[in-house]
Amino acid sequence: MVSASPREQWASKFGFVMAAVGSAVGLGNMWRFSYLTAEHGGAAFVILYLAMMLFVGLPVLLAELVLGRGAGRSPVQALGHFGGNAWKPLGLLFVASGFVILAYYSVIAGWTVRYTIEAALDSFGSDPAGHFGEISEGPQAIVWHLIFMAVTSAIVARGIKGGIELTTTVAMPLLFLVVCGLAVYAATLDKAGPGYTYYLQTDFNDVFSREVLSEAAGQAFFSLSLGMGAMLTYASYLSKDQHLPNESVMIAAADFAVAFIAGLVVFPLLFALGLSSEVSESTVGALFITLPGAFGRMGATGQIIGTLFFATLVVGALTSAISLLEVVVASAMDTLQWSRHKSAVVFGGIIALCGLPAAVDIDVLGAMDEVANNIFLLGGGLALAVFVGWVMPDPIGEVQTGAPGVRWFFLWRTLLRFVVPAVLLYILVDAVPRTVATLAGLFR
Ligand code: PHE
Repeated sequence: MVSASPREQWASKFGFVMAAVGSAVGLGNMWRFSYLTAEHGGAAFVILYLAMMLFVGLPVLLAELVLGRGAGRSPVQALGHFGGNAWKPLGLLFVASGFVILAYYSVIAGWTVRYTIEAALDSFGSDPAGHFGEISEGPQAIVWHLIFMAVTSAIVARGIKGGIELTTTVAMPLLFLVVCGLAVYAATLDKAGPGYTYYLQTDFNDVFSREVLSEAAGQAFFSLSLGMGAMLTYASYLSKDQHLPNESVMIAAADFAVAFIAGLVVFPLLFALGLSSEVSESTVGALFITLPGAFGRMGATGQIIGTLFFATLVVGALTSAISLLEVVVASAMDTLQWSRHKSAVVFGGIIALCGLPAAVDIDVLGAMDEVANNIFLLGGGLALAVFVGWVMPDPIGEVQTGAPGVRWFFLWRTLLRFVVPAVLLYILVDAVPRTVATLAGLFR
């Protein structure tokens, strides 16, 4: 069914790119990338990650854009349009991913809101680990999670131009400037050198294990917002004259740049304060325990740097959360014929409720993150690559619209048809049992 009012569109090309970059740049860049790199071979991991982005992430990103713009509809309808009813369940899986990811993502985002306020008031206290324990689970976590979801829903309810595009075109350039500024500041710190060394110390032995490969692929998918229809949905509001290959390269480059630069901020800060030994095994540890500890000891400078750092996280998280909710909202509008406002309020509310278990128990949050990454995104990405590579009638024709003269389409389709599915299958065979084991552990 086609809805009565004409489909919304981005006001400008820049607006679309900023919205897509906003979706990509988020907690994944600052919360996970630096830690993964330090844990898994430093510069060697960065190279592996770049390879994953180039040969797996980018082709899938372009595939999502092609499918979304080609169909001009939300995921379920887009898959049905080109693939018939048999492919609609994949669209539903995307919507389900949006539910699960946003539900716990918003809880973490809630922590960052709270931390921003605490940084500004210089009230982290002397026991950051204990403090994190207090605020990460229970009533505190619930309140900030609900506030964050309310803001996300309000922006999405305002629509593509007036809500999403407006927010992201202001927020993303600012975010980029602040992250670069923080990196410059971090470079002036005494122990910046050892911090960089810890971050990027090269160990090639590490990068060839299946687990590290799977971490790199999972991170590439999560960070580029792939495998759950977010980019697809954003692309469905595009006009035909956009150069999709250029845009996917721009989005991926910006996403990588922010992740990489965030690492250049985090590690010098930790080392400057002699906290390197406290860099714990977990991402959460580095970001929410050790860094506040660092800011707390830096006096007034820490107050400013800490506030900027956590505010950047809030903004990154918000622009990503918006895209997650938009997948669900666009689907409700297309499929149930609901108004945007109603869809944003009702589904924003339901997702907020789904996040409550994650706000009460951090192990539930961890399990949701693992299921979403290892199964939903990688599985969704695999199915999507197969769909655009093998099933969609003329994907190359669709890319060429708006991008004449580009010659590497066949390479793109070959990657989609063979390389992406092979890599993702290899990883899934290993990741699925691991995730099932985590889930079993949770219910034990
Ligand atoms: N890319 C976002 C981040 O790095 C997370 C995200 C995943 C957003 C999937 C939308 C879809 O934080």
